[in-house]
Amino acid sequence: MLITVVCLGNICRSPIGEAVLTARLEQAGLGGVVRVDSAGTGDWHVGESADVRSQRVLAENGYELEHVVRQIAHHWMDEIDLLLAMDDQNYANLQALAAQAASPPRLHMFRHFDPTLAHIEEPDDRLNVPDPYFSDLDAFRDVLGMIERASDGLVAKLRAELNLER
Ligand code: 4NP
Repeated sequence: MLITVVCLGNICRSPIGEAVLTARLEQAGLGGVVRVDSAGTGDWHVGESADVRSQRVLAENGYELEHVVRQIAHHWMDEIDLLLAMDDQNYANLQALAAQAASPPRLHMFRHFDPTLAHIEEPDDRLNVPDPYFSDLDAFRDVLGMIERASDGLVAKLRAELNLER
């Protein structure tokens, strides 16, 4: 199973999503079953590393990430099982891309999987992980927290879906 985490630039939010979700799946024993990568809807930063502030908050919290920025393309759609959008704008762009696929991936906002937000119908800007690009390091720490809460919820759902509940 392939999960692709998507934001605008693929330098701030989605690399954090990729690193955290990968670590949580590994801890849950799903590392061999579910693969996670990330991409951006925009092309400005293709080929670059993650933003240094994303790298820093990840390292501070014990996460590992090796990252090269990619822009998502419609021909990837048939490979992907689950698309996770960081905000409602990413969601709308991904909906348009997925519509071109023969077998479109499932599409959700990343925070849909935060159990405290699960009642909100998607897409909705209350489910946005806000873009921290023009903010300070604290905004990146907030992004990490939002992503950690949603990742725990998603891993619990995946365990149930893959019949690994005990
Ligand atoms: P991200 O943040 O979508 O979380 O990677 C951004 C990074 C770069 C830009 C916008 C958002 N940009 O306009 O270059």
